[in-house]
Amino acid sequence: MSEHEHNPFPEEGNTGHIWDDNLRELANPAPNWWMMAFYASIAFVIGYGLIYPMIPLSDSYTKGLTGWTAIGEYKASIVEVEAVRKPFEDKIAKMSAREILADAELSAYVEASGKVIFGDNCAACHGTGGAGNPDFPVLADDDWLYGGSIEQIQATITNGRQGMMPKMGGQQLTDAEIDKLANAIYNNGTVTKEPLYTSKGCMGCHGPDGKGMVALGSANLTDGIWRFSEPDQLASIKYTIKHGVNDASDPETRKPKMPAFKDKLSEQDIKKMAVYVYKFGGGK
Ligand code: HEC
Ligand code: HEC
Repeated sequence: MSEHEHNPFPEEGNTGHIWDDNLRELANPAPNWWMMAFYASIAFVIGYGLIYPMIPLSDSYTKGLTGWTAIGEYKASIVEVEAVRKPFEDKIAKMSAREILADAELSAYVEASGKVIFGDNCAACHGTGGAGNPDFPVLADDDWLYGGSIEQIQATITNGRQGMMPKMGGQQLTDAEIDKLANAIYNNGTVTKEPLYTSKGCMGCHGPDGKGMVALGSANLTDGIWRFSEPDQLASIKYTIKHGVNDASDPETRKPKMPAFKDKLSEQDIKKMAVYVYKFGGGK
């Protein structure tokens, strides 16, 4: 039945829309609570528009009485953070990395604020927290190629490092000799007793005691801590001896390179990174 036909409920004030004989739309007012909420929301919009920026105009917008903006609030919070940091940053600028380390408050500040710089610049190679990656040295232990004093760490970050070891495979050493040396190295501490160690010139770089030389970044061969750490460690040692490190004459040579950061980070940030790395726990 449609509204155009007769209304079987004329007394109840319905809208005259009736379906299926008795299904009809009534014209009751909305409940009070609903109307109050409705007017309150209108009042809220007007109030909001008075206080905050709201309506976009052709090339600006209604600004509201307070002048508040989200970007303004963000900028103010940055200014606040910088105001907190400034006294620390000013002190750091005048101090050496070693002096910063000796100052408990400043070194705690660097430990907290250095995380982002390390994450952005170093973690991709050295792993989060300096945990290392197969080709990149662990920074959180006390085994250092280039020395673990704060000055040495700072120099590493500033100028970069690139270890060099000539390939020994081919004319220098037979496979059997490489096996002998590799096994002696793998059995920690015995390599210096192997005559080839001296006769083939390993000693010249890895030192008479086999512990490596900081000036060359030549790895310690006696401590069982592996610079090139791989699941098959004996094979990794043989590979290094055969192909060397950064030896341009061997296409299969290992190619580690610690980039120089002097053009990428400010002196201040490099100083902070030295302190930060030292505080991983391995500095000495
Ligand atoms: C592109 C990869 C890469 C990035 C990025 C990188 N490093 Fe290195 N880093 C290396 C490699 C490779 C070595 C080892 C060099 C070698 O074996 O001769 C190294 C060595 C080091 C060493 C010396 C370790 C030792 O045993 O003496 C320190 C300290 C160090 N890196 C700190 C940092 C810091 C701090 C950053 C960030 C500011 C950083 N590195 C960023 C690749 C990287
Ligand atoms: C010219 C200097 C030089 C000579 C000579 C040299 N090495 Fe090295 N060796 C290095 C350097 C530097 C490294 C570390 C490279 C790096 O980490 O960037 C290294 C690394 C190694 C490693 C890797 C150790 C690890 O922890 O993974 C082994 C193994 C090794 N050398 C064995 C030898 C043996 C054996 C000889 C002699 C046959 C020899 N080296 C001769 C400079 C040298």
